[in-house]
Amino acid sequence: MSNFPQRVFSGVQPTGNLHLGNYLGAITKFVDLQQTHDCVFCVVDLHAITVPQDPKALKSSIREVTAAFIAAGIDPVKHIVFNQSQVSAHAELAWVLNCVARIGWMNRMTQFKEKAGKDREAASVGLYAYPVLMAADILVYKATHVPVGEDQKQHLELARDVAQKFNLDYSESIAALGLGETFFPQPEPLIQGPATRVMSLRDGAKKMSKSDPSDNSRINLSDDADTIASKIRKAKTDPEPLPSETAGLAGRPEADNLVGIFAALQGSTKAGVLADFGNANFSTFKTALVDLAVASLGPVTAGMKRLVADPAHIDAILCDGAERADAIARKTMNEVKDILGFVRAKSA
Ligand code: TYM
Repeated sequence: MSNFPQRVFSGVQPTGNLHLGNYLGAITKFVDLQQTHDCVFCVVDLHAITVPQDPKALKSSIREVTAAFIAAGIDPVKHIVFNQSQVSAHAELAWVLNCVARIGWMNRMTQFKEKAGKDREAASVGLYAYPVLMAADILVYKATHVPVGEDQKQHLELARDVAQKFNLDYSESIAALGLGETFFPQPEPLIQGPATRVMSLRDGAKKMSKSDPSDNSRINLSDDADTIASKIRKAKTDPEPLPSETAGLAGRPEADNLVGIFAALQGSTKAGVLADFGNANFSTFKTALVDLAVASLGPVTAGMKRLVADPAHIDAILCDGAERADAIARKTMNEVKDILGFVRAKSA
């Protein structure tokens, strides 16, 4: 692990309605990590097509996610921002890793079971193999750190298992080529802070999600101030005032969720929020949360709007990022081909 230079990789799907969960669980973490790491941030369009997509809507979603990254504060010049389909090594390495991952491992993936629903036979093979593509995304950059929300934890464990099995299966070839003791690092998930699993505003037992049919269940990054205010005011709560210590949030999922959102937006902790709002009723707390959410998200929403109005500018950012990503990924892919024993032109 220590032999590998530290590099961050993460991805977000362009499937419409980026929401507060994506923002707090992932995008704000990306912004912070830029200060300490080399970062590669990817709009994962190959993942999006594992379920049906309208091509026009997909194209605008790719630009929208890119705009959200930049409006949130990601620097596409110092770091790399690109869309996955422009770097073919993702798909190439995914095929190789499909031959490393075991069917038994894939059968344990809970997100496939949730997404495929009852009619599993009708799900695409891509949806089933999705976690292997995700492993390829990370490993093709030999990334050491992966900031994600809690829901991606199992996929990260799979990526670690795939890396380890590849290293073991091909250890002799890796050593013979002088490519080090281990070829792929074990990527570390970074799942930290008070908002690693932001819940629905309508049901504290359900994750905030793009696919929830109720728009009131989530705050979209495209929502204006009035919509944000109305959704927070309508958010489900319980009749008790807020506790003054975090232990008092046990068994109160809606209160826990709103306190977690407040803490993440403020850059503090749930304990810190409860030190200020312990014993307050929800109407007082929600008023403060509306002010905080509008002040934090307003500039991001406005920045996104400005950026998506100039698609040529966004596309230029993605092409530049893809070129730089390709240079890193191509090198790994050539090494992988040598490890496997494939014949290739040395100049490739
Ligand atoms: P996606 O597009 O579903 O979500 C993007 C990021 O947002 C996080 N997230 C949440 N965090 C907190 N609370 C929530 N309610 C919430 N909903 C979503 C996700 O955990 C994720 O970090 N498979 C990934 C995309 C991906 C990827 C990768 C990530 C593809 N390749 C390689 C990391 C590394 C996904 O579908 O994320």
